[in-house]
Order: sequence, then C-alpha cells, then structure tokens
Amino acid sequence: MPLPACPPPMRLLIIAFTLIVFCLAFMHLTVVAPLSLLKGVDHLTATHEALAGFKTTLSSLQATGAPPDPHPSSITTANNNKNSNDNNNENEYSKPRVAVTPQEHWFYNRKPPPSPSSPPNPNSNSNSNTNAPPESKSSKPNRKKQNRNDPVTAPQDNRSDSVEQPQTKQNSVLVWTTMNINRNEPCDVPCEYTSDKALRKSADASVYELRGYRAPYGDDKMSILLQMEGEHYYPIRMDGYDVENTYRWSSPIKKPYFEWVHYAGERDIQNPSVEPNAIDGVSFLARNCGSRNDREGVVRQLMAAGIRVDAMSSCLHNHPKPANDDKVTIMRGYKFHAAFENGNVRDYVTEKVYLALAAGTVPIYLGAPNINEFVPAGSIINVADFDSVEALAQHLKDSMDDDILYNTYHAWRYKPLPEWFVEKFNFTHSTTECRTCRYVRAKQLGLQWDEVSQRARTAQVIW
Ligand SMILES: *[C@@H]1O[C@H](CO)[C@@H](O)[C@H](O)[C@H]1NC(C)=O
Ligand SMILES: *[C@@H]1O[C@H](CO)[C@@H](O)[C@H](O)[C@H]1NC(C)=O
Repeated sequence: MPLPACPPPMRLLIIAFTLIVFCLAFMHLTVVAPLSLLKGVDHLTATHEALAGFKTTLSSLQATGAPPDPHPSSITTANNNKNSNDNNNENEYSKPRVAVTPQEHWFYNRKPPPSPSSPPNPNSNSNSNTNAPPESKSSKPNRKKQNRNDPVTAPQDNRSDSVEQPQTKQNSVLVWTTMNINRNEPCDVPCEYTSDKALRKSADASVYELRGYRAPYGDDKMSILLQMEGEHYYPIRMDGYDVENTYRWSSPIKKPYFEWVHYAGERDIQNPSVEPNAIDGVSFLARNCGSRNDREGVVRQLMAAGIRVDAMSSCLHNHPKPANDDKVTIMRGYKFHAAFENGNVRDYVTEKVYLALAAGTVPIYLGAPNINEFVPAGSIINVADFDSVEALAQHLKDSMDDDILYNTYHAWRYKPLPEWFVEKFNFTHSTTECRTCRYVRAKQLGLQWDEVSQRARTAQVIW
C-alpha cells in the first residue's frame, strides 16, 4: 500500500503510530481477554493463578482488609516436594505410588458399546440414577453421547478373551490435565495422565484446575472440574464442566484430603501419641492471616488467656521455625496443634487435621461444621463445642495438667478405627487419578457409577 506522499519523518510517524495501534490491540487480546491466553498449559496455569490470586486478593481486601494466603492450606511434609506449593495435594503427585497388581478384569479391553441403533430406551432420559453427573448444559458439539441407562451388556462379554489381549496404550483411558501430571497411573482401569496440550483433543477427558474459571474450550470429550481449595475462596461452578471432582462429598468423583494412599506409614493417622514430655502448648502454622473465619482472632484470644501458642509460620509469627521444616515433626513436639481451617465450610476438612493426627498430637479444630463426619470420635477438640475461647482455654489447661484427661483424646489410636470411617474412606485406597479413569471408562461403557465405592456398577460386577 503506497504511503501518502509526505516527507520521510512523517512516514516514520505513521509507521510508529500503526505499530502502537497493533500493540494495543495485541495487549487487549492477551491481557484484557485472558481466555485468549489459553494456548498452552504453562501459560494457562501461570495466568489463571495470577488472575485468580488477584481476584481473591481483591475480594478478600473488600471483605477483610487483608490479603489471603494464595495457597490457603498448602503443606510441607517430609514427602513434600519444594515446588509443590501450588496445590495442597500436589505433594501427592510426586509421591511413589502403591504397587499395582493388574487385576483380571474382563473390561480392560472393552470398546465403548456401539451407538444405539435400536429404538431409544424409554428410560434413557430419566434422571433416576442420581449418581450420574449432571448432563452438560452447554453446547458440546463433539462430546460423545453415552446412553447412561443402556441395559448393561457388559457381563455377557467374553472375559477370558479380553484378559488375554495385550494391554496396549490404545486401551488406556487417556486423561489430559492442567496439572503437571504425566504418567501411567497404577489402576485397575489402564489409566494414563498427560499434560501435553497436543493430546487434549484426543484425550478421553480433560481435568481443569482453574479455581473459579469456566471450562475454557467446549470441545472436550468430558470436562472435569478439579478443585481442592475451598469454595469460600473459589466458588465451585459447573460452567461448562461435565463432572465435579472436589473435596465436596457431593462430588461424583471425590477428592478428599484424607486418602489412605497418602496417609500410610509415617502419615498413618493412628500413629502413637506424642511423648509425655511434649510441650504443654499449641503449635500453629498458617500463612493466611486474613481468614474467613477469623482463626487468627481465636489464636490471639488463646494467647491472651495464657495458653502457649507457638506460631511458626508467617501468621502471628512468634516462634522460630525449627531447622527441620517438616510440619509433622514440628507438631510432634506439642501436646496440641491448632488445626484451624481458613473458613468454616461443609466438607472442607484439609490435611491440617489429618497431619496433626498422624503426628500423634491432639488437633484443636476450627472449620467444617460437619467435622465429626470426617474424624474418629474423641480424636479432636472442636472449638465449636465451647461457649467461648476462654472456656476452651480452660479446658486446654485442664488437659495439660491432667494426663488422664489428655489421654482420652488418644484412646481412639489404640482401637480399631470406627467402621463408618473405614467404610467412608475405603475408596481412597485408590488414587483420585485412578478413580477418575474408572469414571471416564464407566461413562464410555454406559455403566452406572457408584459414588460410595467410586467404581462402575454392572449387573454382576463392581470394579
Ligand atoms: C471368546 O471369544 C473367542 C473369539 O472371539 C471365541 O473363539 C471363544 O469361543 C469365546 N469364548 C467364549 C467362552 O465365549
Ligand atoms: C472396601 O472396598 C473393597 C473394594 O471395593 C471391597 O471389596 C470391600 O468390601 C470394602 N470394604 C469395606 C469395609 O467397605
């Protein structure tokens, strides 16, 4: 395009102006419209976190006048990986897995059933299976439709034939994830995780950990909302997602903080109680000092009531952190640990209480109103059970002075775990990743999903 006839300096100005306009347009697309950044995983995670962090900082500033902990309950344990503060449970992802015994399930090599050519099943649209996740409301042009209430044809399959076939990658469930997970997940359903963005579209499901953001693409075969942070910081909305995978017990695929696969050995919650010479006081480890439930206010009141509280993280810091940074080791030195969540939210029971139990100390718990559905009776002291913090402080003093009273909080350690607890968490002998693969395969085969066992259900077999 010929430039207007004008002296060279003028041309330069026009070129510069054009460049600036282009730059502004580019910045608008990339910064103002963040979804346009969803081009790569690295970019995506970095950006969504920055944005989410900014968003919560804003809302928290409005609510409390203090910035939130960007990772409200990230933990440091012996098993932890230094780069794993991103997500509370990220440490799980770097831990060695339990060995897998390939089980002789006939379904390994099954292909999804052919799309129904017969007249539609009259029940096929009923929502009688309350375990099924909500159907996607949004437009999902490429999503495979499964007839969830197909008569179960699986048990008629030729089992021995299936088991003998070599298990190739083609038979694996492939899950693409925004988390940095790339591995064959030990599982009774062959299960592969990848964060290779080139594989997203061909994956059987996509797992998004986007903290409050809607599913970005709309062309996933199945999109899964993963979130460990509490909904009081990042609302859990099924915008464009097919299935929820969070700490909430209503999640079809559950991801509780307590999972047996990660709480064994050193982290067995029934480890012996702390030594009798443990400090007559409370350890407190929190960075977010602007919590939604004013946990720091409770700590201050306990201190004012004469209870020794050693705050070793940044919130209310008053005590040096031992050279050994490991939370469980720190907790083991104290008779009590302030296991204070950053909000009082149903089902939001984090590693704070389970690590304290594993350390052999007595958690003083502040958080989920239904905490009693998550820990054995008599294993914690619940702040909510006291009329005032002064009354709580008095009870702590009494327990420190009276070994018999104190040891009532350890009696559960030396008995079998309550049956309800064993049953409730039985499914956590499999990892969340494995259970996600089971779920995906179940839906591909048109099988029902059993939320309690976190397995597929057929007429004859539950796997
Ligand atoms: C299993 O399938 C194979 C090949 O599809 C067939 O030869 C065999 O007879 C079947 N076995 C049974 C028990 O149905
Ligand atoms: C735990 O799960 C396994 C496998 O699903 C099952 O066989 C067993 O009966 C379950 N145990 C309890 C106590 O629920």
